Amino acid sequence: MARLSLFTSLMFFLFISRVYSATFTLTNNCAHTIWPGILSGAGTSQLDATGFSLQKDESKTISIPASWSGRLWGRTLCSEDSTGKFTCVTGDCGSGKLECAGGGATPPATLAEFTLNGANGLDFYDVSLVDGYNLPMLVVPQGGSGGNCSTTGCVVELNGLCPSDLKVASSDGSDVACRSACEAFGEPQYCCSGEYGNPNTCKPSSYSEFFKHACPRAYSYAYDDGTSTFTCASADYVITFCPSIPTSKKASQNPQAADLPLYNSSMIFSGNPDYNGVSSTRVSYMQFLPSAITLLLAIWRLFHLF
Ligand SMILES: *[C@@H]1O[C@H](CO)[C@@H](O)[C@H](O)[C@H]1NC(C)=O
Ligand SMILES: *[C@@H]1O[C@H](CO)[C@@H](O)[C@H](O)[C@H]1NC(C)=O
Repeated sequence: MARLSLFTSLMFFLFISRVYSATFTLTNNCAHTIWPGILSGAGTSQLDATGFSLQKDESKTISIPASWSGRLWGRTLCSEDSTGKFTCVTGDCGSGKLECAGGGATPPATLAEFTLNGANGLDFYDVSLVDGYNLPMLVVPQGGSGGNCSTTGCVVELNGLCPSDLKVASSDGSDVACRSACEAFGEPQYCCSGEYGNPNTCKPSSYSEFFKHACPRAYSYAYDDGTSTFTCASADYVITFCPSIPTSKKASQNPQAADLPLYNSSMIFSGNPDYNGVSSTRVSYMQFLPSAITLLLAIWRLFHLF
């Protein structure tokens, strides 16, 4: 009998964890291959997928365990040298391999950060430019409810618009990333460290405002929580690298940093039907009822076998 109730609870546990786990669908809309990297937070085990390639227009869906926390980002301009060592010009995770296997992104890199099933059962997510920027990224929750369950990200291509003292160029001279002021200058007021280590003393700088102006929903410095953290219950997430910008708003004739942005994220978020409405489909728990009944029947039959 004891064995049976153990089995029953196990089945219930599997059923429950199945309901609450999420999927991430990563899509590459960039004109070139990117290599996503995924790092689990302290106290959560690494996913099976910690790094892989994603060709132009390719998508990959991965299952994420309940209560997972961690971050993901895109690596660019990756290659393998003659000894088989794998490195990337931006977002490299130092593993020397395709899989990051516990390695994090070398700044600058745009990060999507998640804590699933956190306080009040809500997922907390954001897109952060605190460690700089290398690619436009969009996070769209699907089928979730509650909280302020909306699309976030940084959809603007910033590498070319980046202030010259933050700009990172590759060996051929093309702009590949934009550093944060903290990384570029290492000063406490930019890094929110030392006497600037709290939200009352660490304020936005002209550098963080450059990022915030271009990408109002993304973290631009460490204490940018209020406008940059989003919450959602029981959602799946679609994470798009280089989300396309509506062509009518793409016409940037003279993109000088001074009159940036000619388009900005709020315009994309409010004007693009592709991104609005995606999160309006809500999961009804009733949809799990048939599988619950099937499962209970299976348990019932097993019970009669013993
Ligand atoms: C984005 O553009 C809109 C329309 O031009 C403007 O009203 C809004 O203030 C801009 N947002 C930011 C954060 O710059
Ligand atoms: C979303 O909700 C969270 C939790 O209530 C809050 O901390 C955050 O400021 C909200 N985000 C925005 C962009 O309003």
